[in-house]
Amino acid sequence: MAEKKMWGGRFSKGTDADVERYTQSVEYDKALYEHDIAGSRAHARMLAKQGVLSREDAARIDEGLAQILKEIQDGVFVWRVEREDVHMNIEARLTELIGDAGRRLHTGRSRNDQVALDFRLLAGERNRAWRERLRVLVAVLVERAEEHKETLLPGCTHFQPAQPVSLAHHLLAYAWMFKRDVSRLEDAFKRTMISPLGAAALAGTTYPLDPAFTAAELGMNGVFDNSMDAVSDRDFALEALFCASMIMMHLSRLCEELIVWANPAFGFVALPDGYATGSSIMPQKKNPDVAELMRGKTGRVYGALVTLLTVMKGLPMAYNRDLQEDKEPFLDADRTVCASVSLMAGMLGELVFRKERMAAALRNGFLNATELADYLVGKGVAFREAHHLTGHAVALAESRGVNLEDLRLEELQGICPEIGADVFAVLEPAAAVRRRQTPGGTGPGPVEEQLAALKAWLASCTVSN
Ligand code: ARG
Repeated sequence: MAEKKMWGGRFSKGTDADVERYTQSVEYDKALYEHDIAGSRAHARMLAKQGVLSREDAARIDEGLAQILKEIQDGVFVWRVEREDVHMNIEARLTELIGDAGRRLHTGRSRNDQVALDFRLLAGERNRAWRERLRVLVAVLVERAEEHKETLLPGCTHFQPAQPVSLAHHLLAYAWMFKRDVSRLEDAFKRTMISPLGAAALAGTTYPLDPAFTAAELGMNGVFDNSMDAVSDRDFALEALFCASMIMMHLSRLCEELIVWANPAFGFVALPDGYATGSSIMPQKKNPDVAELMRGKTGRVYGALVTLLTVMKGLPMAYNRDLQEDKEPFLDADRTVCASVSLMAGMLGELVFRKERMAAALRNGFLNATELADYLVGKGVAFREAHHLTGHAVALAESRGVNLEDLRLEELQGICPEIGADVFAVLEPAAAVRRRQTPGGTGPGPVEEQLAALKAWLASCTVSN
């Protein structure tokens, strides 16, 4: 005989088996068990403090919930689909264990504020975990940049060779992106850690609850202002999914570069064996599958964001069952983000940067053309004119199949008589990088400043908020 539903008082027949399968969420919302138990323990303490629950009942509830926590952690807890969700599985087990006191736990509470609380606690925990992983990634980028202050490679615009840059500068561009991701998460964290407990089903409750007490017990930052908003708001989950999407977008850009750099036509990097795979048919292959999958998985994280935005868009006040569709996309995005950020840190840590290939590439594409133009400006030629004359020099070199620095002095002087023998030092890629000392530029000074700022930031990080 099937167990009577907790909400089954007004029903005379049981639930259709397909409906039960369709509506249950325990299969995935059991991921909330720790937060559900923590929330219930805080709720019981508050009820006892307010005199709504006897001290004895509250103590029994606390012990029962502690035992359930242990049962789940030991893997002996039996999750039952017919009990629908994590909340009712735990509450039903509590009543099995401690009898009547278990039936009093839900006083002044609804699953609507309960699930909103659990989900916020989970989102807060994952927010911290993402930040921690991102900091590790930034630290790896800083470390690799530190090693490659002198390594130069072609910087591109339109993916065409533009001007030489240091590899440190290129890598630090990503460090700043991931640092911004951390700051976005910090900001979202403040709004996530607002307790909805006490909103009850939608209208508040008749019991003399103390929502600020439960919020403080749970280490949250504050309490809801409007009970209807509290039970139906999922902005915190959406903000998390947007942050996750942004993180994946940043990772995906980096993946794209690594994939291109690993192609032998570039050969700028050699992938560590542990992070590459072979082909079942082509023996020579070493494929950048990790980077490709990370680029691919970016799509599913964007998908999670769009899924939840779409779930929310037509919902009237207040709680609607549609909201149960909020957790799976979040949990999936969490798994993807955590694994991706950590794998990227591991892969970058072991990546071999092939300086000689990068140096050779600096000889293709006239990366020093801007240097010649700037040199002419230094000799008193107006920039527009200098640009034009340099274009002639490029055309001449191209027609001869050589670089600008391979042209003879007389040939260069034929284009512009102001050019002297000192031009050749100016055309060196290292000189081009050295001269770019404007703030945030690729010159050694600004790169040192970036490194110092990022190191100071890493040292100042605490995960306390
Ligand atoms: N499993 C539900 C969810 O995730 C819990 C809240 C159910 N509330 C309700 N009134 N049926 O949204």
